[in-house]
Amino acid sequence: MKFDTPAGINPIDRMKVVGVAHDRVDGKFKTTGMAPYAYERHDVAPGQLYGFILGSAIAKGHIAAIHTTHAESAPGVRAVVTYANAGKLGKGSKNTANLLAGPEIEHYHQAVAIVVADTFEAARSAAALIDVDYVRGTGHFDLAAAAPTAPLHSEDKDKSKPAVLDRVGDFEAAFAAAPVTLDATYTTPDEAHAMMEPFATVASWSGDKLTVWTSNQMIAWAHDDLAQTLGIAKENLRVNSPFIGGGFGGKLFLRADAVMAALGAKAAGRPVKVAMTRPMMFNNSTHRPATIQRIRLGATRGGKLTSISHISTSGNLPDGSPETATAQTKLLYAAPNRLIGTRLAVLDLPEGNAMRAPGEASGLMALEIAMDEMAEKLGMDPVEFRIVNDTQEDPEKPGRLFSQRQLIRCLRDGAARFDWSARNPRPGNTRDGDQLIGLGVATAFRNNLNVTSGARVRLGHDGVVTVETDMTDIGTGSYTIIAQTAAEMMGVPLDRVVVRLGDSSFPVSAGSGGQFGAGSSTSGVYAACVKLREAIAQNLGVNSADAVFEDGHVRSGNRRVALADAVRGGEIVAEDTMHWGDLDKEYQQSTFGAHFVEVAVDAFTGEIRVRRMLAVCAAGRVLNPKTARSQVIGAMTMGVGGALMEELAVDTRFGFFVNHDLAGYEVPVHADIPHQEVIFLDEADDKVSPMKAKGIGELGLCGVAAAVANAVYNATGVRVRDYPITLDKHLEKLPALIQALTIRNVCEKAK
Ligand code: MOS
Repeated sequence: MKFDTPAGINPIDRMKVVGVAHDRVDGKFKTTGMAPYAYERHDVAPGQLYGFILGSAIAKGHIAAIHTTHAESAPGVRAVVTYANAGKLGKGSKNTANLLAGPEIEHYHQAVAIVVADTFEAARSAAALIDVDYVRGTGHFDLAAAAPTAPLHSEDKDKSKPAVLDRVGDFEAAFAAAPVTLDATYTTPDEAHAMMEPFATVASWSGDKLTVWTSNQMIAWAHDDLAQTLGIAKENLRVNSPFIGGGFGGKLFLRADAVMAALGAKAAGRPVKVAMTRPMMFNNSTHRPATIQRIRLGATRGGKLTSISHISTSGNLPDGSPETATAQTKLLYAAPNRLIGTRLAVLDLPEGNAMRAPGEASGLMALEIAMDEMAEKLGMDPVEFRIVNDTQEDPEKPGRLFSQRQLIRCLRDGAARFDWSARNPRPGNTRDGDQLIGLGVATAFRNNLNVTSGARVRLGHDGVVTVETDMTDIGTGSYTIIAQTAAEMMGVPLDRVVVRLGDSSFPVSAGSGGQFGAGSSTSGVYAACVKLREAIAQNLGVNSADAVFEDGHVRSGNRRVALADAVRGGEIVAEDTMHWGDLDKEYQQSTFGAHFVEVAVDAFTGEIRVRRMLAVCAAGRVLNPKTARSQVIGAMTMGVGGALMEELAVDTRFGFFVNHDLAGYEVPVHADIPHQEVIFLDEADDKVSPMKAKGIGELGLCGVAAAVANAVYNATGVRVRDYPITLDKHLEKLPALIQALTIRNVCEKAK
């Protein structure tokens, strides 16, 4: 099916099952331990051995020699695989660095060996016996040092064209002429996905056929890239990933656990399981790259933006991509003169790549502080300032409308709900005992993407509808919304639908990423169900166009037939894929929201506590209010981490992330998170898909950190432009402390 004209009325609009707050259909499996994660697949292949990955001790250089004889003769060891005996490997099209190093080393903790042994402990202790002679090369690890000479990055596939900044109007002239201007630089640090479940794989060979049970968001990408890396035919590889303990973008790509498990299993002649240890994950895998973002805003005294510039610099390994932190600035606020672009430095740190809302999450951390600073300069309320600069058309392509854009309503509804009018616009002036109280707001914005997505649907003789697609559920609720979609389309209750996901033998879906999973994968299921309805109608000899599927029956004219009657001759199977036309070119498809945050900052210690949070989201139809809300409160929690805690500390001499475990890399826990409220505007966007739903999982994160930062500023009057906002960055400037120090000085003078 191709979606190329706005959706008309369709069976989803009945909203009997879709749009209802159903519990997760996989919830009981997860809470009772019955959902098997990759490392728990004890049952799938007998005689599993344990693999332990050894990571490189240097960040850049090469291996002169690697001595494995001691490890090979250690007790219980079955195989040791390094580049020296792995055979020729390819590289996955989506991997920037090789997943097995050697002789070149591209980054710290890049895998240099796997030891396979009878037990995990034997493999781990033997790995310590591997002796590697490294020759250290010269690497670049310091973004701030590399930024001034970082070249512009071109989005153009044609690399022969020189990269240029995106220009609309004459930014320089308009900025110079603007009566009110802001020119500020903001930084965001490297961040880790820090998902609960580590990278893990069980690999089993049968002749030249390989099966992996792994933890991956994108089955088809993992399938392609593992086949390509190992140099095997795709038909000889099966990838399974039915349950995933979080990914946040870290599991979009094939990683070393899968490659090394496959190599280890081949060498040992038995199935091998590998889980990456937590301290390996931070430097071995990908992370959200740090940014340095310069924002310039020019406005009239009335608060109309006349000029916007946003230039973001990030780093990556050679051939890596930049953090696209300017993405939202192209679309969010009106201004006739614009100058936007990204710079990319070569850094030899571990690979930077997508982490939840790549681009906008980092970009809004900067832009939405800049908007707060500018509102203050203008003497305007920050909510009103955003409303004044709203646009209903693409600012770079006048006349091109948004499919739906209710940012103003999100801001207004949120302000009313949060009692925003009680905010004191004078920062540092609201006290509650020893606490300085502040309120902050930020716009949420994230693009909506549609990705080709297929599914197979069967109507069994028992009347059960089974959906099969290689879609994944990374804790997001995919199982549930797909079941709801099939139930709605086929007119059966939710408990008559079985959903099977995460298997490369199923039709290729969108997978889970870029908040495109929910809208795209359910649209694929929609397409397959349309075909199944046609097949059933044909079987029953009724016209599919006027057939109504309801209460387990098909109704057409004055005939009403039980679905089960349609499958007397055996089950009926239908398969289809949703393809997307040009509606996303005709209309800009984006999601919107507003985040409101209240913080309390201890006037003497500088400790920051978040007191209240509200998100108002406009993202088309909400397929399941319960799972959607869970997505948003999880994202808001992640935003608090980004604002106040998360930072990979870079050792700029040796090129690695120092705090590579969950003791040193801090994320919020329950005690850090206060009351959170989420409101969804009642929308249905007919330009995006027959589901009329857009992504929500990343929108919930976008803007949160800036709302926290703005609340902290409102509380303290100290502006911090470098994330995370840890108390050392404002402690010495806090008003109460300055007051206390002054009193002490006065007392001392008086003595
Ligand atoms: Mo998302 S960072 O595309 O999983």
